[in-house]
Amino acid sequence: MPNVLVLPGDGIGLEITPEAVKVLQAVLKGHSTTLNFEYGLIGGAGIDEAGKALPDETLAAAQAADAILLGSVGGPKWDTLPAPQRPELGGLLALRKALGLFANIRPVKMLPMLVEASTLRTEVVKNVDLVVLRELTGGLYFGEKGRGTNPNSAFDTLVYTEEEIRRIVDLGFQMAAKRRGRLCSVDKANVLESSRFWREITLDIAKNYPEVELTHMYVDNAAMQLVRWPEQFDVIVTENMFGDILTDLASMLMGSIGMISSASLNGGKGLYEPAHGSAPDIAGKNIANPLATILSGALMLRYSFGLEHEAQMIEKAVERVLQEGYRTPDLAKSGDKVLGTREMGDAVVEALK
Ligand code: IPM
Ligand code: MG
Repeated sequence: MPNVLVLPGDGIGLEITPEAVKVLQAVLKGHSTTLNFEYGLIGGAGIDEAGKALPDETLAAAQAADAILLGSVGGPKWDTLPAPQRPELGGLLALRKALGLFANIRPVKMLPMLVEASTLRTEVVKNVDLVVLRELTGGLYFGEKGRGTNPNSAFDTLVYTEEEIRRIVDLGFQMAAKRRGRLCSVDKANVLESSRFWREITLDIAKNYPEVELTHMYVDNAAMQLVRWPEQFDVIVTENMFGDILTDLASMLMGSIGMISSASLNGGKGLYEPAHGSAPDIAGKNIANPLATILSGALMLRYSFGLEHEAQMIEKAVERVLQEGYRTPDLAKSGDKVLGTREMGDAVVEALK
């Protein structure tokens, strides 16, 4: 029986992960594959209960697990800690790095019933169907960083090796070839040396994929194009921090940051988490949207366990609940039936039947 390590983390992570577990259990009820769920600490919860953001026990369990489901990390309580000990750097980023999860897939697809929830006009967002492939274990997040020799300075560095660029960009081409055949590589090659290098390598890889149409776009322009005419994008491949920023932006095309799921892969193991944060302002109130985490559970079935049919069952159940007019507060307009976190999870379970 495959083992899934569940790491709820902090803030709303504690409320949204149980809903995803509930849905995974429901969709696999009576199935020949059943999942065994184990639990661990990460982030602020790790600091408070085990003395560090990524406790050794959690790392060992993650290495042993077949897949990981993660909620979110961080919160004001731990904000004053030195950066390397914080829930984000010491917990989540350390885990991504330790497991070599270099490929972060974030699907951005407009669900027709959510067109009204977007802050953008219907004609702009109605046909959005794109994937951002974010490099996750290199780039600006992981380069050398620190305080300068002059105490009044600080630095972060953006470094990529050829191998790191090749493996992510190659995956981008593979994904584009299976979709609509368009890959947009996003960089800042007019300024950054690392981006010029990224471009060179990308152009070289393109020779292996004549069927994929490759374009390059500067990241500032990409941010603008994503709100101007998002339909133009099929697969976007980009540097770690560019991908972080662009996916928060892109989530709003779907109406809420509470809708953006993600899979972080290394060719073997996968970690699945919503792309949003721990939302301390709404934590503990049963109002957080669990759908990004539930949809991340669907990605787990697809990418870690090859259960495409069951993954689609979850995705269809989510659509059905939304179709019936149920919304968590982040998505709600007047006239919608507003549900709490748990009730939204229950509704998805009910829709699976
Ligand atoms: C994300 C989050 C994380 C990141 C934070 C919590 C460290 O914003 O997954 O997008 O920046 O990668
Ligand atoms: Mg982010």
